[in-house]
Amino acid sequence: MSSHRLNVAALAGDGIGPEVMREAIRVLRAVEKRFQLSFQITEAPVGWAGIDAAGKALPDATLQLCRESDAILFGSVGLPDRDPTIPKEERPERAALLRIRKEFGLFANLRPVRLPKVLSHACPLRPERQGDGLDILVVRELTGGLYFGQPKKTEEVVEAREGSDSPRRFQRSIDTMVYTTPEIERIARVAFESARLRRRKVTSIDKANVLENGILWREVVTRIGKEFPDVALEHMFVDNGAMQLMLRPTQFDVMLCENLFGDILSDEAAALAGSLGMLPSASLGQTTGDRTFGFYEPAGGTAPDIAGKDLANPIAQILSVALMLRYSFRLEAAAVAVEAAVSQVIESGLRTGDIFNPAETGARKVGTRAMGEAIAAAVG
Ligand code: IPM
Ligand code: MG
Repeated sequence: MSSHRLNVAALAGDGIGPEVMREAIRVLRAVEKRFQLSFQITEAPVGWAGIDAAGKALPDATLQLCRESDAILFGSVGLPDRDPTIPKEERPERAALLRIRKEFGLFANLRPVRLPKVLSHACPLRPERQGDGLDILVVRELTGGLYFGQPKKTEEVVEAREGSDSPRRFQRSIDTMVYTTPEIERIARVAFESARLRRRKVTSIDKANVLENGILWREVVTRIGKEFPDVALEHMFVDNGAMQLMLRPTQFDVMLCENLFGDILSDEAAALAGSLGMLPSASLGQTTGDRTFGFYEPAGGTAPDIAGKDLANPIAQILSVALMLRYSFRLEAAAVAVEAAVSQVIESGLRTGDIFNPAETGARKVGTRAMGEAIAAAVG
């Protein structure tokens, strides 16, 4: 597919980032060989690695590289125990992750949660609640809502007290939840279009019984839903959604959420898949022509406690490669090949520690590298 440019910025970041990124690149190289493609992969520091290398969580050169690339393959950033004196605006979560989301207009976050039948033991729910395995896609709005709404600040308040000379002083924090019609429309379309490729059901999550934002959300999603008569639409309050995930997760196909609700419910859904180490994600911007700029990262974070020990599960990072092939490069066959390779290796019994259960017959515990090598070999 020569019309596609295949420039990938690989930003491994902190904690387990570098070791899982190494395995993801190994798999990408295997894809390259099998499908006779050629990726230009350029690595650059981000997060604390960026601060150490260039004094900033998102060094200018790294940002520039991202601008020149077609997709960003991201590891993870943030080490809670490092240097608490650094101002919150400069910490990796805000200065790198949220900054990149906003900078590149990555409004659509897709988090596929899958629990294959063979990993049933890794799921905290009883087997009868797992059906034939779980398969949920959380579609999360990523550049609006409480994360970015203004005003956003903490201020000092001085309040006069009746009958007293000494005023009352306290602090007040304000976050603003704001959504516009176009923001809801575009994320709703992503959810409905995704559902068309799956089981054709969207459950839209809101808090329309309390929030103005919820009322607008529900109205707009209902209207957009009429453009997709072949997709079933259901609305659910967020508190009920959290409960239904525990009680009857098999009812969900696509869950459409605003930013904060999606943050919370995607972690809850992830727990059902047994391990955060299995979950990839794609953060997508607007498609122009045949180009969708995307940012691909595992959902699991930096896991500093196991970093550098060959213990981390590289599958989330590897499945993020599959999402990149699918959404940014439109290389569906290559994406499927990566996903099939992961399934094959799981079926064969290879397990990193997070998904290993000694009671499981035929399971063999391996490290990060061995898992990556097995998946790369299975790609062919
Ligand atoms: C996520 C993370 C981030 C978020 C944090 C690290 C800022 O929890 O991607 O879900 O809240 O969006
Ligand atoms: Mg989160």
